[in-house]
Amino acid sequence: MLLKIQETADYIRSKIYSNPKTGIILGTGLGNLVTQITEKTEIPYEIIPNFPVSTVEGHSGKLIIGKLGDVDVLAMQGRFHYYEGYDMKAVTFPVRVMKALGIETLLVSNASGGVNPDFEIGDLMIITDHINLFPEHPLRGKNFNELGTRFPDMSEAYSKELIEKAKLIAAKHNIKVVEGVYVGTTGPTFETPAEYRYFRAIGADAVGMSTVPEVIVANHAGIRCFGISIVTDLGVPGKIVEVSHEEVQEIGNSVQPLMTLIMKELIR
Ligand code: HPA
Repeated sequence: MLLKIQETADYIRSKIYSNPKTGIILGTGLGNLVTQITEKTEIPYEIIPNFPVSTVEGHSGKLIIGKLGDVDVLAMQGRFHYYEGYDMKAVTFPVRVMKALGIETLLVSNASGGVNPDFEIGDLMIITDHINLFPEHPLRGKNFNELGTRFPDMSEAYSKELIEKAKLIAAKHNIKVVEGVYVGTTGPTFETPAEYRYFRAIGADAVGMSTVPEVIVANHAGIRCFGISIVTDLGVPGKIVEVSHEEVQEIGNSVQPLMTLIMKELIR
């Protein structure tokens, strides 16, 4: 694995001129932010050595390296999901490559189902913490001390400093944000009403199928994290209706410019 990480990082380094310290992972249909990246180099996942290839409709997979404002960034448009069949080493491999490339801060986005009864469809939820309910842990197995410690601390998996800054940015632009705990689960089914109730009962505000593995590996690597989740549907008793991937993408699309604004200013 260490050799593969190096090989992939060397390949990416050979294609770019900058040394980005900020990484971005954009979720389902949330590629709007990359349209704002200038002086960009785009590398499709298919041609990156050792990279898994994304398969799901609506998840175009490429690495985009360039400038967001004045800041050098490395963005992943599309991620690898556990439900696609990848194991957790594959799902989180790009984060390890980011670390090898010198990334120090990681911003992630996703779509989720809100289980907090105060939430509304289209809310932007700043992720304050997560609950890992994936059946496979990305750090299971031999620990490589080169990558991080055996028993990583997770007391501040999402940087409090970045959360506070993001809230100030949102307030300045009159953008409504909510805060909450994201529970990561495998999918690909959306939840039954009983499952939504269960996630609420164990302390979640929103549920989704991603992010947690990447944030675990980033924390292991000493990368500080920030995440925003777009609440695309509600798993709240009385408000549960049929939900589809298309609707999730539609709602995500409609509010992502606001998320882009927050992330862009935060990165600056
Ligand atoms: N559940 C899980 N993942 C999701 C949901 C949901 O309701 N909405 C968007 N991603």
